[in-house]
Amino acid sequence: MYLRESSMPAQDYWESLFDADAILTHFGLHGDVAELGCGYGTFTLPLARRTRGTVHAIDIDPTMVETVQRRAADAGLDNIKAAVRDVMAGGFAAADATLDGVVLFNILHGELPLVMLTEARRVLKPGGTVAVIHWRSDIATPRGPNLAIRPSPAAIIAWVAHVGGLEMPRPPFLLPPWHFGLEFTRQ
Ligand SMILES: C[S@@+](CC[C@H](N)C(=O)[O-])C[C@H]1O[C@@H](n2cnc3c(N)ncnc32)[C@H](O)[C@@H]1O
Repeated sequence: MYLRESSMPAQDYWESLFDADAILTHFGLHGDVAELGCGYGTFTLPLARRTRGTVHAIDIDPTMVETVQRRAADAGLDNIKAAVRDVMAGGFAAADATLDGVVLFNILHGELPLVMLTEARRVLKPGGTVAVIHWRSDIATPRGPNLAIRPSPAAIIAWVAHVGGLEMPRPPFLLPPWHFGLEFTRQ
């Protein structure tokens, strides 16, 4: 299932909206990480430079996966494994409790956030990290899904409480100019 409002604008425009490396400094991501909906690899490449593990970059759109593979090769990064996969239908291609991190960036407005979070919990080792960012809904933003489906920090915290097995070591934080972040840890 292609998640609602998940299509991407042109790569240059999308990547002008983020300082991806600065955003990643806010998260304790390390080791082997899976990314649901990697898009152009905006966060995949800087994450791969920051971890000694493998970044499993997954997207339902083959053109996105080809883009990430080409960019990884051009950058000489051999720790990115990009794959076409419908995570909502088949989950991550990872066994239980085998990953150190899961990245859910600009994706939790999709139809089934509880499924995404449950799958993230399943693949994480104890102590592993779920990193979340999303567009703020309390200010005007140049992009982002319709406000009616844009999740607030409070909504995400409630979903995580419903899923269980994840704790929030610190409060939500702002990622100026347009995003907020949340980090959860597998118990
Ligand atoms: C809004 S983009 C976000 C891309 C990236 N996370 C970022 O922040 O730069 C959402 C991405 O999720 C992908 N996607 C949509 N449904 C998916 C699914 N069921 N499984 C895997 N990827 C999916 C889309 O193709 C798109 O590349």
